[in-house]
Amino acid sequence: MRILVLPGDGIGPEVTAQALKALRAVAANGPQFEIADGLIGDAALDAEGDPLPDATLDAARRADGILFGAAGTYESDLLPPEKRGGHGLLRLRKALDLYANFRPVFAFPELIGASTLRREVVEGVDLIVLRELTGDIYFGTPRGVHRDESGERYGINTMHYRESEIRRIAHCAFRAARGRRRKVCSVDKANVLETMVLWREVVTEVGQEYPDVELTHLYVDAASMHLIRRPRDFDVMVTGNMFGDILSDAAAMLTGSIGMLPSASIGPSGNGLYEPVHGSAPDIAGQDLANPLASIMSAAMMLRHSLRHEEGARLIEAAVRHVLAEGYRTPDIMQDGARRVGTAEMGDAVAAAVGRIRN
Ligand code: IPM
Ligand code: MG
Repeated sequence: MRILVLPGDGIGPEVTAQALKALRAVAANGPQFEIADGLIGDAALDAEGDPLPDATLDAARRADGILFGAAGTYESDLLPPEKRGGHGLLRLRKALDLYANFRPVFAFPELIGASTLRREVVEGVDLIVLRELTGDIYFGTPRGVHRDESGERYGINTMHYRESEIRRIAHCAFRAARGRRRKVCSVDKANVLETMVLWREVVTEVGQEYPDVELTHLYVDAASMHLIRRPRDFDVMVTGNMFGDILSDAAAMLTGSIGMLPSASIGPSGNGLYEPVHGSAPDIAGQDLANPLASIMSAAMMLRHSLRHEEGARLIEAAVRHVLAEGYRTPDIMQDGARRVGTAEMGDAVAAAVGRIRN
């Protein structure tokens, strides 16, 4: 099994290093992984002048699973797209057709008190934001900043979805719901945008093939409200690229911290890229402050979905529960009476728990 590790920028390298500790603990007297490294983001821009060098893309195509850290730092966000670290990630998603982005939001009982929301709202939350990842306004053309005849500048981006793109993500949603509580909520803006009228129509059509799954629809503004008002009601929330980007950050806070959210981005052949949802967080990079649990749980998702190693995935997930129950907390999820640890110590604790649980 070939794993490509793309640590990237900001806190990416330090959290990814902790996920590797957990993977190595799983691999000790178990499956053999061949682990290689690649450059992406600002790190690749600095070294090669390109946020997604050809060598990285080639290695990504050959890998069974990709473990990704974060790409892009705030400083480079104002540069033209081809000089922006985050653009490397967008190109990689598109090149590998990683259209289905699963962002599971699970409220660990141990962390209920760490959420900014009241206990009775977040207790029992267990949902997936399923974000379409290769279409929408992220990739639609025309796009850019131009000048009109009078010399005034205007910016343009295009929301664009093909029926086939909506259909395949809808199927993913219904299939995922069948393995869970059999509820799909599709989020759109069909009251204003034609593209979203099409979205709703196609999702409804696909839904007829899954009569055992309950389908509801919400406009994105209402969905954002219900997500923090009655989050327990949601099972699978399927939505487009941009709404999914926004709603998944909001949903993260249900778990106490965005540092707790793993994700899987899956392509047509089951190929996948696994990454924490949190991004590069340059303000805390290199200070041993970042929460590595999102990256560690992303590694578990990689074991499950791309490396077909369910046992290893469960081991890592159980280890995470274990260290939370023991009171280990990075600053973002710190609670009274808990044991405050840094990024590396949290990683060591999870790896040690993997070893203990297995034996
Ligand atoms: C995410 C991130 C990315 C996105 C950025 C880094 C390009 O916010 O994965 O949610 O907008 O998709
Ligand atoms: Mg985002």
